[in-house]
Amino acid sequence: MKMLIQSRSFALLRYPMIEVAASLSQSTVCVSSTFFRRYAIRRYTVSAPLPSSTTFSTKKLKKKLRQPVMSVLEIGGTKICRDDVVKDDPTNNVPDSIFSKLGLQLHRRDQHPIGILKNAVYDYFNKNYSSEFTKFDNLCPIVSVKQNFDDVLVPADHVSRSYNDTYYIDAQTVLRCHTSAHQAELLRMGQTHFLVTGDVYRRDSIDSTHYPVFHQMEGFRVFTPDEWEQFGMDNTTYAATELKKCLEGLTRHLFGAVEMRWVDAYFPFTSPSFELEIYFQEKWMEVLGCGVVEQEILKKNGRVNNSAWAFGLGLERLAMVLFDIPDIRLFWSNDERFISQFTGGQLGVKFKPFSKFPPCYKDMSFWINDSFTENNLCEIVRGVAGDLAETVQLIDSFTNKKRITSHCYRITYRSMERSLTDEEVNQLQSNVREEVQSKLNVVLR
Ligand code: DAH
Repeated sequence: MKMLIQSRSFALLRYPMIEVAASLSQSTVCVSSTFFRRYAIRRYTVSAPLPSSTTFSTKKLKKKLRQPVMSVLEIGGTKICRDDVVKDDPTNNVPDSIFSKLGLQLHRRDQHPIGILKNAVYDYFNKNYSSEFTKFDNLCPIVSVKQNFDDVLVPADHVSRSYNDTYYIDAQTVLRCHTSAHQAELLRMGQTHFLVTGDVYRRDSIDSTHYPVFHQMEGFRVFTPDEWEQFGMDNTTYAATELKKCLEGLTRHLFGAVEMRWVDAYFPFTSPSFELEIYFQEKWMEVLGCGVVEQEILKKNGRVNNSAWAFGLGLERLAMVLFDIPDIRLFWSNDERFISQFTGGQLGVKFKPFSKFPPCYKDMSFWINDSFTENNLCEIVRGVAGDLAETVQLIDSFTNKKRITSHCYRITYRSMERSLTDEEVNQLQSNVREEVQSKLNVVLR
């Protein structure tokens, strides 16, 4: 799937019908999470409850794997209990490893790369729009299916609604998979210029640029007829022109004098839709998705005869480039050697890797069934190994005469903070195998 941070392009089905009520184990959608754009968009990743700076004896390992997570927290005035989010119910697919990320709000830490980047974007808007934009960075990430999908016109059969791609608390409630989920409610509150920053959640595969929790910033600006009329433009042309001007300025503010290009895109909530790319380190890199907001969204939320632009930025993707951070898991590190390298207000200080610890590769092969999905496999690996899992990669696949398919996956284990012992990696792999067999109903080879 492809996301504002991470892009992957192996959508096997263009527009698959999905059974939203299907439970995790019944999930039938076998596409990667091409999320909202081009029929689909993109996504991001979790860490397991494992603190990667601890060494384990084999005996203690299993116990450690089941570390208790804090069970009550508060976000933006809403109290959230673990049992309200993680439920033993077929309509719930939220694991503890994801619950443990709720409330961490990296974007609200001024000394953290994600917070530093958020503040740099705020500076741009404050300077260029005389602080007209209202900033929200503490809206609760638990939203209704209506907010996350219906309010922004995501079609009923869109792949992003599947249990394979999105974390459902129950059939009507999800962990937001994009900050666009707040557009409609803010419009109804009378907001016309706003920035929403927050943590967003997507079930996904595992590699250095994908994590099931990441951060986005949504921008939204409404225009009234007098604004486009004074320039003799129609509402859409005016909004698109203002949008491009604004985002080109923002990109220069963050990256300096870079080469940029606009690419046509598809999002359900905007028309026309665009992506902005910059030429960076010898290739074109996507910076954001944006467009002119669909009239239906404006009309339904009290803005008849208005026009608007909107954009969505993936903060990790940009921060990885701006700070030279090689692996997305590092954002979640509490290691002083990572944290101490960043200072509030200093965008683009280059991260110096403190050490590169050796990887450990483990392969596993199994016969899959119709309900097998890579996202479900990755969810198990994250649940067991947390941030010690660096990649999960399909390295071989074949179908036998009886039309049964075998997959071989290579799991790379590596800590960002220390060397792993053979013993603990073997234990992790053994736990993964056990869970894969029992939860995914596949036959190990
Ligand atoms: N919600 C989109 C995503 O998660 C990003 C996005 C694209 C937001 C276009 C927007 C927009 O507001 O206009 O990938």
